[in-house]
Amino acid sequence: MKALVPLIPLCHAVWLSALLLTACGGGGSSDSGTAPATTTTGTTATSDTVVATAVTASVAVVDISAEDLARLDPVGLTPRQRLGQLIFNDTNLSEPRGTACVSCHRPNMGFAGNNRSLVGVPLGSRGVLGLRNAMTNAYTGFVPSFAFRVEDGVTEAVGGHFWDGRADTLALQALQPFLNVDEMNNASAKAVMAKIAVASYAPLFRQEFGANILANIGTSDMAITAAFTQVGAAIEAFERSDRLQSFSSKYDAMLRGQTTLAPAEARGMVLFQDAKRANCAGCHLMNPGSSNPQDSLFSEYTYYATGIPRNTVIPANAAPQFYDLGLCGPVRARPALPVTLTATSTVSIDAFCGKVRMPTLRNVAERPAFMHNGFFKDLREVVRFYATRNSNPERWYGPSGIPNDLPAVYQGNIERTKAPFNRSRADGPVLTEAEVGDVVAFLGTLSDGFVVPPRP
Ligand code: HEC
Ligand code: HEC
Repeated sequence: MKALVPLIPLCHAVWLSALLLTACGGGGSSDSGTAPATTTTGTTATSDTVVATAVTASVAVVDISAEDLARLDPVGLTPRQRLGQLIFNDTNLSEPRGTACVSCHRPNMGFAGNNRSLVGVPLGSRGVLGLRNAMTNAYTGFVPSFAFRVEDGVTEAVGGHFWDGRADTLALQALQPFLNVDEMNNASAKAVMAKIAVASYAPLFRQEFGANILANIGTSDMAITAAFTQVGAAIEAFERSDRLQSFSSKYDAMLRGQTTLAPAEARGMVLFQDAKRANCAGCHLMNPGSSNPQDSLFSEYTYYATGIPRNTVIPANAAPQFYDLGLCGPVRARPALPVTLTATSTVSIDAFCGKVRMPTLRNVAERPAFMHNGFFKDLREVVRFYATRNSNPERWYGPSGIPNDLPAVYQGNIERTKAPFNRSRADGPVLTEAEVGDVVAFLGTLSDGFVVPPRP
């Protein structure tokens, strides 16, 4: 743990120089100047080796690739969706320039990715690491607004955007990254609008939202708010387009009767649905009986603390007393429980501390890092975690075997009733290594862009 403190500024120096190299078109690997790369899959490692991994595997070489841009082709988009797409891709809209939404939400990474950081949390425009792994923004048109509800007598939180549900709509969500110092770091909405007013797509912005929409953004706060709100509307329209919600995976083709799964994928799907064992579908909802892919969104959008191990590379985690408590902050204010609930039950908001919103698993195999803190870099390790959290906790948390990313007071919030988290140590791993491979194979069928084979 101690080694972390001096190493973090060093990491930043490495990242910064790599960024500059890329920005200047500097050749070669941006890993140059660091020790020979080790693998990035050391997820069971101690904090020291995790830090070592962070230094050696500081940033990926590739920036936004031609493939990303091809997958963002504008054909068939409405003018509003197209405008949202142009804003989404515009690297001028950060301070300093160079970071766009697409930097952390890359089409060829399942609309996630961490702006070239390989340590599980993104680099913002200032070259500083953030607190949380970039969530996919694909299929977010299906995320309901934040609410508390009672299901089978249990009070649960559902919906909202971000890991902690703090933004109610996509249009509101879209405005936060522009002003977040760890992301695009603009000083104000006014600063963002000044850039949009001189962008190549400013005429399209006026065409869509009115000839005078940008007229008074230099002087009137009301005009700034009105125009900035429309930036959110344009991005939301794009996020709801078929570019981000194409339902074009092999799984979808199977639902439509256009293809069948390979044996390993099919075995993985059975395991995924087995309510007594892996029980993935108990939370990541699917309905293979329906030919409508919208009935298989692979998330219930509810909140759980699943005991993900601490990612010691996150700068805030250098302070041992710091914890990301999801619904209980520190990024958001704790939500108030509705009076209708507090009147009839003793449930307290403390019961939600440490819980985060489950994402969709569509395109999950394309993402470079997993879970809210980006602890996992390898999908197979994620499935192994589900399989062995209860049977072999030392593997994930060190000798104590106690989940290490929540303070003692909130350990009781960690999920232990739903399979596979209800097992005892004596029950052993819920999946064999071969079965882990089958589940990973099935998850691979959820990636968009599957080409339906021609009928023989
Ligand atoms: C520097 C990286 C970075 C940039 C740039 C960025 N994001 Fe994100 N995005 C994240 C992270 C990290 C999260 C999760 C943050 C949290 O939960 O607090 C996130 C979450 C989201 C979500 C929530 C998804 C869900 O399921 O609720 C959406 C939508 C989104 N971003 C869209 C955008 C848009 C639109 C932009 C540009 C205006 C953008 N992002 C810019 C890193 C980034
Ligand atoms: C009790 C509900 C629950 C069950 C059961 C469950 N998950 Fe999850 N899953 C979640 C939650 C909540 C998260 C987000 C946790 C976090 O980030 O801290 C998540 C995240 C994930 C992620 C990372 C997604 C991303 O974008 O980072 C993957 C992959 C995943 N689950 C796969 C599975 C598989 C495979 C199974 C079955 C072996 C499974 N899950 C069972 C609730 C569940």
